[in-house]
Amino acid sequence: MDHFTYKNGVLHAEDVPLARIAEEVGTPVYIYSRATLERHARVFREALDVIPRKHIAFAIKANPNVAVLKVLARQGFGADIVSGGEMKRALAAGMPAKDIVFSGVGKTRAELREGLEAGIGQFNIELEEEGAVLAEIAASMGKTADAVLRVNPDVDAGTHAKISTGKKENKFGVPIDEAPGIFARLSRLPGLNLRGLAAHIGSQIFDLGPIEAAYGKLGELVRQLRAAGHHIDRVDLGGGLGVPYERDKVPPTPADYGAMVARATKDWDVTLYFEPGRVIVGNAGVLLTRVIWVKPGAVHPFISQHRRPGVRERRHLRARARRGRGEERRPRRLPHRRRLWRDHGQHLQQPCPRAGGDGGW
Ligand SMILES: Cc1ncc(COP(=O)(O)O)c(C=O)c1O
Repeated sequence: MDHFTYKNGVLHAEDVPLARIAEEVGTPVYIYSRATLERHARVFREALDVIPRKHIAFAIKANPNVAVLKVLARQGFGADIVSGGEMKRALAAGMPAKDIVFSGVGKTRAELREGLEAGIGQFNIELEEEGAVLAEIAASMGKTADAVLRVNPDVDAGTHAKISTGKKENKFGVPIDEAPGIFARLSRLPGLNLRGLAAHIGSQIFDLGPIEAAYGKLGELVRQLRAAGHHIDRVDLGGGLGVPYERDKVPPTPADYGAMVARATKDWDVTLYFEPGRVIVGNAGVLLTRVIWVKPGAVHPFISQHRRPGVRERRHLRARARRGRGEERRPRRLPHRRRLWRDHGQHLQQPCPRAGGDGGW
C-alpha cells in the first residue's frame, strides 16, 4: 500500500497535491511519502517477528536520500552500504555505526580504514585478499573488525541477468566449496573477528524457492564450520525480495518471506541480518517532471525532464498529476502510447506510484 492517491482528480502525496509542490519548488523533483516508508518498514519488521535475533540494514543503494534514511533510522533500521559516501549518508541520517553493514565488492583501503575509524558493526568480506587487507589495517589501528564471509551459493535467482549475483560465474562472494578453507585461514588473522557468513543471490526475486535453496546451503556451511571448531553467531541473508512493476506479476509478501526464513533457519542459533532495499522504498516516492515539448509526428512525441528508462531495460510507470475526465481512479502502467498524453495538463510525467509497489500488502 502506498500514500499516493487521486483526490478530486488531483494526485496527492499523502495530503499534499503534487501540482502544488511543482508550483512551489519546480520540477523535476523527487517526492517521498514518509507514511509509506514507515508502513513498509513496519510490515517488513513485523514479518520477521518470528525470528528471535535479527538486525535489519536498509540497502542504501536502493535510495541514498538522507531524508529517507532518517525515516528508516527512526524505525530502527541500520544500513547496508557499499562505499565511504554511503557510510557518510547513513551516519548523517543518525544511524549508529554499529548498525551499519559494509558490503560491496570494491572497498578501497581508505574506505576500510574509514569504516574502522567510524566503528562499523560488520564488514562483509567478498574475497580472501580483502579479508587479509581488512585484518592488516585493523591490526595496525589496534582494532578488531567484526566481519562475515560472503559466499556464492551457486544458485540461480531466476531474475534479470544484470541483477543476479548468486551464480558461480558472478563475481560476488567466495565459491561456497572454497569457503571452509578461506574461513579457516582468515579466522587465524589478528585484527579480524570472523563471526559468520553472508549471501545475496540477486534482486527483484519473485520466487522464494531459489532463496530458500541458497539459505539451505548456508545452513549446511554453518554446521560444517562449527564442526571444524569455528564460533558462528551471525548470518547475513542479504536482500532481494521483488516488487511489482506489472499488475499481473505479484511478488511474495514480506510475511511469505518471513515464514520461509523461519523455516529455513530454525536450528541455526545465530543473529540474522537482513538487507532489504527496493521492497522498502520501491513505491514510496515519485519523480515529478514536466513535458517540455510535444513533437508533432514523432512516435514518442513527448520531450520531458524524465530520466532515460533505457538502462537495464527498465520500464518507468507514469501517471498524470492532474487527471483528465474518464481516467482511472488509480494511476496505472502507461507504456509509450501517444493517447495517454493527449490533452495533457500542466504537470504530467512521473513514475506511477504503483511502480515498485508492494503487491497490496
Ligand atoms: C549485497 C546486497 N544486499 C542487498 C541488496 C538489496 O537488494 P534488494 O533491493 O533487491 O532488496 C543488494 C542489491 O543489489 C545487494 O547487492
